[in-house]
Amino acid sequence: MAKSPPELSRPTNPTLKRPSYAKQRTTMSFSSFYSPRLSIFLLALCGALFTFYNIQSLHAPVPSSPSWSLMHQWERVSNCIQEFKSMAEKLQQAVTFLPLKDLRYADKALQGHTWFMSSMYDTHEEGEVQYQQFPSEASKGRLLCLKGKETHDGSWNSYALAWPEALPINATLLKGLTFVSYNHYNYDNIWHGLSAMVPFVAWHIRNGCESPSRWILYHWGELRFKMGPWLRTLTEATFGGAPYIESFEGVNDSQPVCFEKAVVMRHNEGGMSRDRRIETYDLIRCKARFYCNLSLEGRIDEVNKQGLPVTSMTLFMRTGPRSFKNESAVIGIFEKECAKIDGCRLMVAYSNNLTFCEQVKLMSLTDILVSPHGAQLTNMFLMDKNSSVMEFFPKGWLKLAGVGQYVFQWIASWSGMRHQGEWRDPDGDECPYAEDDRRCMSIYKSGKIGFNETYFGEWAKNVLNEVKARKLKEAANKSSASTSGCACD
Ligand SMILES: *[C@@H]1O[C@H](CO)[C@@H](O)[C@H](O)[C@H]1NC(C)=O
Ligand SMILES: *[C@@H]1O[C@H](CO)[C@@H](O)[C@H](O)[C@H]1NC(C)=O
Ligand SMILES: *[C@@H]1O[C@H](CO)[C@@H](O)[C@H](O)[C@H]1NC(C)=O
Ligand SMILES: *[C@@H]1O[C@H](CO)[C@@H](O)[C@H](O)[C@H]1NC(C)=O
Ligand SMILES: *[C@@H]1O[C@H](CO)[C@@H](O)[C@H](O)[C@H]1NC(C)=O
Ligand SMILES: *[C@@H]1O[C@H](CO)[C@@H](O)[C@H](O)[C@H]1NC(C)=O
Ligand SMILES: *[C@@H]1O[C@H](CO)[C@@H](O)[C@H](O)[C@H]1NC(C)=O
Ligand SMILES: *[C@@H]1O[C@H](CO)[C@@H](O)[C@H](O)[C@H]1NC(C)=O
Repeated sequence: MAKSPPELSRPTNPTLKRPSYAKQRTTMSFSSFYSPRLSIFLLALCGALFTFYNIQSLHAPVPSSPSWSLMHQWERVSNCIQEFKSMAEKLQQAVTFLPLKDLRYADKALQGHTWFMSSMYDTHEEGEVQYQQFPSEASKGRLLCLKGKETHDGSWNSYALAWPEALPINATLLKGLTFVSYNHYNYDNIWHGLSAMVPFVAWHIRNGCESPSRWILYHWGELRFKMGPWLRTLTEATFGGAPYIESFEGVNDSQPVCFEKAVVMRHNEGGMSRDRRIETYDLIRCKARFYCNLSLEGRIDEVNKQGLPVTSMTLFMRTGPRSFKNESAVIGIFEKECAKIDGCRLMVAYSNNLTFCEQVKLMSLTDILVSPHGAQLTNMFLMDKNSSVMEFFPKGWLKLAGVGQYVFQWIASWSGMRHQGEWRDPDGDECPYAEDDRRCMSIYKSGKIGFNETYFGEWAKNVLNEVKARKLKEAANKSSASTSGCACD
């Protein structure tokens, strides 16, 4: 099938300069569009031709009637304006909208150019986030325009590129910077929400810490108007203001909306080097702590009565699916091991009823996070760097849950934490099919997690000793690298 203008793949023409726009932080400023810029441009152009013609005519024989000559010249100017206008109208008519969700790529929804804005290629420099920016050299100076307010089928929403002088007919131009997010999952689950937000933070760091005037959220090309409370607060903390999520109120289904400046992300962290990821999570952690009025100094300074550094272990409990079957037994095992270590403190918290800032604070007080597999583990990046994570799975996940079960190993690595391994329950609910039958996953997915006293005890002891040794060494060095502010302040 014919595909895509390939010239969009990469900035190719270094001589084209991106037009610079005044930085603006407006909530939503509609300006109904019939190209006033274009009219001014045409008048100026034709006026210049007119003057040029006049200078030329000085050298020509004096015409018999000056008024005839003026009329004649005005006619030429007016013809010239008509011609340019008609050309611009053709350009306006030529703006072609394509479906945001391209069903031809349904089997490769996440690969390469993806099925979202499939005719576009991302800009990707080595080690940096993959993104699209409009206008840019890659877009040949064209702006991004979107059309449609569909929330159930993304193939009815559409996109197009247009030059600012020839925006599509009846288009609305929105000023300021717009972040357009593509999320294959959702904006409620904190893991999936964070994954969608991280690339914008990376772009923000690389682009003078510019914050967006609005967000446009898509899932499979369908519009979404809400972020979950955790993600919403994290976004507010990071970008220094509550996110304005565009809902296109007052715009018709068939009315195009174009953006003065837009950045599109559809690959999450994909393409980012380890250093870039660390830098990005560093900023989000710092901003979250600042927002929640917590110290930015880190845990190096917390000591117990004997002056020993405190080693803090937190059991972060779930309720319902993937909770521990016997919480008191699990707490008992970790309590026992903690009691053997000088300076150890054990905390038990529930992920279901903590506010955002309570979660940020809890993590800032934790060296070792002990928790079942689940979205609440996303919070780990809010601990001091080099902190530890211990993860637990119910029966059946190893064989059936696919690569997604490793996300918390990934985020540990991306945010500079130490994933200290996992325990997988050998026992659990029976499945009527063979163990590796995919149908069993629906049973195992929500399974609960038992315990093995011997294993948990040994594991806790080893991790506690390692962390304590590291903290003692750091305390001895105490490189007093105190941070008083975040990047992007
Ligand atoms: C533009 O808007 C006018 C008035 O609402 C409408 O009559 C016209 O059909 C629209 N044109 C296009 C191309 O949508
Ligand atoms: C949208 O369409 C309706 C009816 O088709 C019209 O009354 C309304 O003015 C339109 N709104 C805009 C912003 O064009
Ligand atoms: C942080 O402190 C400021 C000033 O005392 C206060 O206005 C703000 O509500 C606090 N923020 C949180 C999340 O507690
Ligand atoms: C939980 O474990 C403890 C210690 O092994 C045991 O005494 C208790 O009966 C268990 N509770 C349940 C509900 O199984
Ligand atoms: C939080 O939820 C847990 C589990 O449902 C419950 O035991 C605990 O009392 C709750 N805490 C608060 C402060 O509501
Ligand atoms: C984390 O540990 C590594 C390796 O031990 C060390 O080089 C680095 O400085 C530590 N980072 C922090 C923030 O303590
Ligand atoms: C518990 O863990 C220990 C140590 O890894 C292992 O030897 C033992 O077989 C485990 N027990 C059960 C019931 O799985
Ligand atoms: C402590 O300082 C010494 C000497 O400056 C250095 O060699 C060592 O790597 C440092 N250790 C840590 C954990 O920072």
